[in-house]
Amino acid sequence: MVKPAKNGPLFLYGNLEVCSGTGRTVNRAEEVHLCRCGHSKNKPYCDGTHAKIGFSSED
Ligand code: FES
Repeated sequence: MVKPAKNGPLFLYGNLEVCSGTGRTVNRAEEVHLCRCGHSKNKPYCDGTHAKIGFSSED
């Protein structure tokens, strides 16, 4: 399941596998929070920077 947080990251739930651009698995988890503001210093994960920069989403 994918759930966008208002003015924040995408919450993903399920049996997840995060892969690099070359297909290497970098993480397996049941919940991840992916950055969608583009300013996280820990991409692809949200590090809370969206709140500091005032990221605004339409959903
Ligand atoms: S959405 Fe949280 S740091 Fe980008």
